[in-house]
Formats: sequence, C-alpha cells, structure tokens
Amino acid sequence: MARILICYYSRSGNTKKMAYLIQKGAMDEGAEVDTKNVKDVMVADLRKYDGIIIGSPTYYGGMAAPIKDLLDKSIRVHGKLQDKVGGAFSSSTNVGGGNETTVLAVLQALMIHGMVICGDHRGDHYGPVSIEAPNKRVEKNCIMYGKRVAELTKKLHG
Ligand SMILES: Cc1cc2nc3c(=O)[nH]c(=O)nc-3n(C[C@H](O)[C@H](O)[C@H](O)COP(=O)(O)O)c2cc1C
Repeated sequence: MARILICYYSRSGNTKKMAYLIQKGAMDEGAEVDTKNVKDVMVADLRKYDGIIIGSPTYYGGMAAPIKDLLDKSIRVHGKLQDKVGGAFSSSTNVGGGNETTVLAVLQALMIHGMVICGDHRGDHYGPVSIEAPNKRVEKNCIMYGKRVAELTKKLHG
C-alpha cells in the first residue's frame, strides 16, 4: 500500500485544515496517510514514505521557518528520497500574496531531492492554495489533489 506523509506548519489553523482535506482525498484513494505537524516529523522518518506532501502558510511570499528548517535538515537523507512523489500546498491572506511562490519553493527543494512532482491540470496547477481558511473551492481542490497524489504514488510505488 502506498504510504503518504502530509506534513504541515500552521499557526492559526488554515494550513492544517487543508492538510486534513488532502488526507481525506488520499485515503479515499486507498493510501495509508500520516498527517503530522512539522514539529512531530523526524527527518529520518521521511525515508519511510512513498509520497511526501508539505504545507506551509505563506510568510513574506515564501515558506514558514519551521518548514524551511525541516527541508534544510533533510540534507541528512539527501539521495534517499529519490523517486518518491512530492507535493505542496499553502494558505495566504492575499490573492497575489505569494501562495504559489511558496508552493513552488517547497517543490523546488523536493525536486533537488530527486522527487517526482505531482502537478494538476484541473485544479490548482502547482498544488492547492487557499485565501485564509479553505472555502468550497479549496475544499474540492484539496480533496482532488490528495486523490491525485495517491494515484500517482500507487502507480510508482503501489
Ligand atoms: C509572519 C507572517 C508573514 C505573512 N506573510 C504573508 C504574505 O507574504 N502574503 C500573504 O498573503 N499573507 C501573509 N501572511 C498571512 C498568512 O499567510 C495567512 O494568514 C495564512 O492563512 C496563515 O495560515 P495558518 O492559519 O495555517 O497559520 C503572513 C502571516 C504571518 C504571520
């Protein structure tokens, strides 16, 4: 069974809500999913998963420090994450406030690990983005994205 980690940082709960919607989509697709606050994620554990999806609020157009810290520490598993499926999502306050640049910054790091990035031709193309808490549009996109990442993970690792 495909194992997926959804790792998030969230100060006021918006990114966390997105994480659990993505979890629902991935579980509906039959994946085994761990959804964890970044503070509970050990770098060595990243190796256990077939897919890793990372969520951050948008802070100054980029990822929040705890997510950057995890990614910097992930050098300890450099070379060991190759071919795992990667994804990212973000919540910001403003349209044009940098949620997509945040998603892309996370994806860039995952690509450096040699991971396979899951884009989406229907929903939010780079990964789900929300303005503050998820509305109906974002709920739908997050669930669809969880399914999509799980499908691809199953194809590559199932
Ligand atoms: C330090 C800090 C920087 C932020 N920078 C941005 C920003 O550049 N653009 C934006 O649209 N929102 C920005 N925000 C707002 C958050 O991205 C937004 O409130 C988000 O929904 C918070 O997610 P959370 O509830 O998961 O913590 C910032 C908030 C903080 C605390």
